[in-house]
Amino acid sequence: MTTVLVTGAAGMLGRQLLPRLIAAGYATRGMSRRARPAGIPDNAAWFSADVETGAGLADALAGVEVVVHAASSARVRSYEIDVEGTRRLVDAAAARGVAHFIYISIVGIERIPTPYYKNKVAAEETIIAGRVPWTILRATQFHDLIDRFIAGYLRGPFALAPLSYRYQPVDAGEVAAALCECAIRGPCGRAPDMGGPQVHTIAQLIKPWLAAHRLRRLVIPRIERDEVARAFRLGYNTCPDNRQGRIAWEEWLRTRAAQP
Ligand SMILES: NC(=O)c1ccc[n+]([C@@H]2O[C@H](COP(=O)([O-])OP(=O)(O)OC[C@H]3O[C@@H](n4cnc5c(N)ncnc54)[C@H](OP(=O)(O)O)[C@@H]3O)[C@@H](O)[C@H]2O)c1
Repeated sequence: MTTVLVTGAAGMLGRQLLPRLIAAGYATRGMSRRARPAGIPDNAAWFSADVETGAGLADALAGVEVVVHAASSARVRSYEIDVEGTRRLVDAAAARGVAHFIYISIVGIERIPTPYYKNKVAAEETIIAGRVPWTILRATQFHDLIDRFIAGYLRGPFALAPLSYRYQPVDAGEVAAALCECAIRGPCGRAPDMGGPQVHTIAQLIKPWLAAHRLRRLVIPRIERDEVARAFRLGYNTCPDNRQGRIAWEEWLRTRAAQP
């Protein structure tokens, strides 16, 4: 049985990936810095390890054939975790004879100059230059992330949002399924970018969000004129020709509202 290690397995994507890998017949290991969190499937092993320091990595990688690298930190110490941590993981994987290194990245990162996206580009370059055969799948933003963005814009007495930014929200479960397919297919280099079924502006995404939450708010456009804002307004983070995701934003909101 092939053994797969998922880094970032406690995260939004990682949690969706473990059951899919198990269902596909893999011996599955989850890994993150914390002790085994609640909700991890019983038949997945758990390893506490840190890509930033290297602690626990040797144990987590022992006997592993495939690594799916989803550990990341957009907010704090992104360079140490996403760039240096990825380099440390790739080197450790090469030293232990890992056969396939799969990386989840983000659509359009080389055209949107945020510090986090620059670190994701550097992480991709490390993997491409490394000694382990690889697959990189770039996805658009997950529904869950857009949901958090909108909740953030609406916090406080004045709702300000970058209403003309474009997003193509995709379901994290569908991205997890695509990563599972990458594991089955074997190393293939850059996989086609993966996006959700529709490109929307934030203005279009907020309307059904407010309806789903039974809220009425006046949302004022937040005007930003820098290069990052321009990139999001032009939708560099979208891939309209690749709409593999089937779950639309409204459907995701309905399903979420129906959950206890
Ligand atoms: N969210 C999106 O919309 C989206 C879209 C496209 C691509 N992606 C990519 O998908 C990947 C996963 O995203 P996500 O939204 O699932 O992220 P997430 O929810 O923040 O999960 C990331 C996980 O990484 C772990 N982690 C952080 N630092 C670590 C370290 N030093 N060592 C080991 N584990 C560490 C964290 O767990 P602990 O705190 O327990 O260590 C966390 O659970 C990222 O690479 C992201 O760029 C995300």
